[in-house]
Amino acid sequence: MDKKVTVIGAGNVGATAAQRLAEKELCDVVLIDIVEGIPQGKSLDLTEAAPIEKHDAHLRGSNGYDESADSDIVIITAGIPRKPGMSRDDLISTNAGIMKYVTQEVASRSPEAVLIIVSNPLDAMCHVAYEASKFPKNRVIGMAGVLDSARFRAFIAMELDVSVESTHAFVLGGHGDTMVPLPRYSTVAGIPITELMPQARIDALVDRTANGGAEIVGLLKTGSAYYAPASAAVEMAESILKDKKKILPCAAYLEGEYGFNDLFIGVPVKLGKNGIEDIIEIELTEAEKAALKKSADAVQGLKDDLKKLA
Ligand code: APR
Repeated sequence: MDKKVTVIGAGNVGATAAQRLAEKELCDVVLIDIVEGIPQGKSLDLTEAAPIEKHDAHLRGSNGYDESADSDIVIITAGIPRKPGMSRDDLISTNAGIMKYVTQEVASRSPEAVLIIVSNPLDAMCHVAYEASKFPKNRVIGMAGVLDSARFRAFIAMELDVSVESTHAFVLGGHGDTMVPLPRYSTVAGIPITELMPQARIDALVDRTANGGAEIVGLLKTGSAYYAPASAAVEMAESILKDKKKILPCAAYLEGEYGFNDLFIGVPVKLGKNGIEDIIEIELTEAEKAALKKSADAVQGLKDDLKKLA
């Protein structure tokens, strides 16, 4: 393949993302993990599936970073996932150290790459990666909104018994329970869901979306969601690799947009070969603005915690 993506962390999210990237024949994949044998074993296993899955993507696993050199995109999933009773924010001290180290290793070897951050707490980890990489803001992007809006879409489709393909959903804000799903901009075949279901059902779906990660953690007990997070990261990677310019909700570094400064938060962006090529600002109601402010305050709180850790 003429494109190369490195995935850091060969655990549940990372290995699933590697599988999807290869099976969609988007790029060659380098899988890196700190645990000896895991990235090598998983990439060999995926390579042996290739004749059956009919793809010619090359996969390689490593415990070092030299193989990652000159990647077009680096997806960072390294870190620990949550267990029942933990919030994403409880992961901050462990994952901040891992994120800083990993980012420095990849940034020096792939100075032109776009970074897609997946490790939690997401918005805070984007700050760590932004500072550690010293990359321009358009090349450090957090994966959260695509996952949150996919969850919202899945719940809308279940509720109305329609194809997921006919649904579209909008979620703004931080990747936590203060996230801001926007029913007004969430549609089925272009019709806002506010015209398709009563407010009480919308409220229930919004609540389930905001707590979607915790619902999976509660069921799995030993880890957190990975199929949908991997799909979301790969959708972002595809839009960048193919320069598709999809409009997707992603965590982006804001400098004045939506009234926030020096903060990563989920907003609609245009994703193309340069990473974030535009931040789309939409009109919000007073209630939506207040919800977004609350979400931004939560992210700011985590950012302040990072300073205390440093
Ligand atoms: N360098 C490289 N890999 C590391 C490092 C490190 N310093 N530290 C940990 N890892 C690896 C682990 O060895 C493990 O294989 O990161 C991987 C994480 O995989 P899982 O434990 O399966 O976690 P996963 O479900 O993939 O979630 C990873 O994504 O969604 C978020 O909250 C989630 O922060 C978590 C991350």
